[in-house]
Amino acid sequence: MSTSLAWDERYASGEFVFGEAPNLFLLGQAHRLRPGMRALAVGDGEGRNGVWLAQQGLVTTSLDWSAVGLAKARALAEARGVALATVTADLTRWEWPVAGFDVIAWIFVHLPPADRAIACEGVLRALAPGGLLLMECFTPAQEGRRSGGPKDPALLWSRALVEQHFGGLEVLELLEGTVLLDEGPRHQGAAEVVRAVLRRR
Ligand SMILES: C[S@@+](CC[C@H](N)C(=O)[O-])C[C@H]1O[C@@H](n2cnc3c(N)ncnc32)[C@H](O)[C@@H]1O
Repeated sequence: MSTSLAWDERYASGEFVFGEAPNLFLLGQAHRLRPGMRALAVGDGEGRNGVWLAQQGLVTTSLDWSAVGLAKARALAEARGVALATVTADLTRWEWPVAGFDVIAWIFVHLPPADRAIACEGVLRALAPGGLLLMECFTPAQEGRRSGGPKDPALLWSRALVEQHFGGLEVLELLEGTVLLDEGPRHQGAAEVVRAVLRRR
């Protein structure tokens, strides 16, 4: 079972386990971002994505339940000379601010079904009108691959799950397929993912 302590242990080494560079899918969404947008990076771990969003001029908050991960996120932000707010919280218990964000990045966050439903409700509450949800997660086709993701298939995402949880959002992109990951020691090689760009009407 995934716990904040287990993630603290994973993040305890000096290295950035998913690298310091942003996720490539998120990087490819740069054209949709504008300085001053309010961004939330959920399950941001060591902060590679939140820090990159801050570098694009977004007013960014990184949320994770690993205090160890977020300490590294703050150090990365300082090294890059950008401001980053961090929130140490379980995203199933967090008070998601109503219409509080213009961009929510959900990159490789895999939750048990009941927790996923709660967090998705939070995302829907927290997205401002016109706000974007940018998501990349592993799908069940990832089973057997060694390029990352949870072992428990119940935690995996799919296009159908995205449609189920975020049916009220406008689809700008929604794709399932194979990508090549090169993100630190934990995400290396061919991987099966779903990628979504969804907009609140
Ligand atoms: C696979 S890592 C991805 C980290 C980051 N998004 C990235 O791509 O580098 C998943 C992250 O989700 C966080 N996480 C998992 N369940 C969580 C929960 N219930 N509340 C807050 N964070 C959670 C973990 O601590 C971990 O940092």
